[in-house]
Amino acid sequence: MAKFLVENKGPLRGEVSISGAKNSVLPIMAATLLCNEECIIQDVPALRDVEVMCQILESLGVKVDADFSNNRLSLNATEILHNETPPELAKRMRASILTMGPILARKGSAVVALPGGCAIGARPIDLHLKGFEALGAEIIFGEHHVEARAEKLKGNRIYLDYPSVGATENIITAAVFAEGTTIIENVAEEPEIVDLANYLNKMGAKIKGAGTDTIKIEGVERLHGTTHTVIPDRIETGTFMVAAAITRGDVLIKNVVPDHVRPVIAKLTECGCVVEDTIDGLRVRGDVNPLVATDIKTLPYPGFPTDMQSQFMALLTTVEGQSTVIETVFENRYMHISELNRMGADITHDGRSAIINGGAPLHGSSVMSTDLRAGAALVLAGLVASGTTEVTEIYHIERGYTEFVDKLRGIGAEIRKED
Ligand code: EPZ
Repeated sequence: MAKFLVENKGPLRGEVSISGAKNSVLPIMAATLLCNEECIIQDVPALRDVEVMCQILESLGVKVDADFSNNRLSLNATEILHNETPPELAKRMRASILTMGPILARKGSAVVALPGGCAIGARPIDLHLKGFEALGAEIIFGEHHVEARAEKLKGNRIYLDYPSVGATENIITAAVFAEGTTIIENVAEEPEIVDLANYLNKMGAKIKGAGTDTIKIEGVERLHGTTHTVIPDRIETGTFMVAAAITRGDVLIKNVVPDHVRPVIAKLTECGCVVEDTIDGLRVRGDVNPLVATDIKTLPYPGFPTDMQSQFMALLTTVEGQSTVIETVFENRYMHISELNRMGADITHDGRSAIINGGAPLHGSSVMSTDLRAGAALVLAGLVASGTTEVTEIYHIERGYTEFVDKLRGIGAEIRKED
């Protein structure tokens, strides 16, 4: 199996450019199923998950023209031939569930295999299905799949028990053609929701309030094609900000939206980093002050992102003192702790809380990626560990980070991929 070999080559310095957001392009690709004209998507990151979504769309009858060397996708869902995502593809990626809303809206029936994805928790889809039911769909469970069926969806008022990102996205796309007005309350406010709403509105949808806790959708008859540029990936941005901090380096991160990483800027600053919002991007310096322990608690946006929890924990193992981490979004997102402890970290956890006694030097070891962000965290730890760190199961990392090795080497990291 392929692995990354990482050495400590001192502080990272230089410039790195961020790619398009994985968690924006995936719902946008799925939403293209609502449109029977060509749509062009730009700044598409060349990722495993994007390739899988292309395969899913093609299996549904969408004409897909992927030009990854130019980060460009042309999608044309003139007709959707089937209403079911292929189970073998759906199991590989949880985001496949995002095709359910658009297919239900377009075909009146959508069938998906009960989703897979990272091993970071049960990750049910009850809130997605509750939204479809509120719009008038009948939900029928099979042994391994679930179907949502409705002749015509009707607008309604929906309250989300939890601001689920995926449920928000699926209910928005299901409601685009629904009769009348749909109001969804307690929705996710992530930037990726705003990007999706902007894309749909450019296609002729009538969606208001994305980015707030309430979204209002007026049903329309049809959507027309458009061209859209995906927002930069705020989690890749945060990952490289932590890479600068953990190596006590000085890195300029370009093609970023500072507003999308406010919690990460705040926490890195609290640790003693200097983060400058310059005309060229975010300059992150871990070499100005001695870094100090701090506490983080993950929350839905605009709180500290769960997708940055493992990377930040790696940083906290390198600063003197006791830090605490509370993971409130997923019930099982601490599998990187045992791997970091194999590298000499001193982390204990009980349920959703973890305590990091930082400062002990890390040493290289053979460690395993358990989800894409945990894998990135182990690479970051390897940048400051003595000796060689071997990171295995790197397919997780390659699902969410494009050109990860090249970008790190571009700012001075000693990392290489071995097949
Ligand atoms: C999205 O996943 C992201 N994935 C995740 O990023 C991210 O960690 C997560 O949002 C939270 O920000 C994509 O956008 C493709 P949720 P999603 O629905 O939509 C519970 C990464 O690293 N829940 O907001 O699956 C669920 O169990 C990935 O790029 C229900 O209970 O997240 C979880 O505990 C990992 N019922 C919590 O809500 C539901 O119907 C958050 O899940 C849906 C979710």
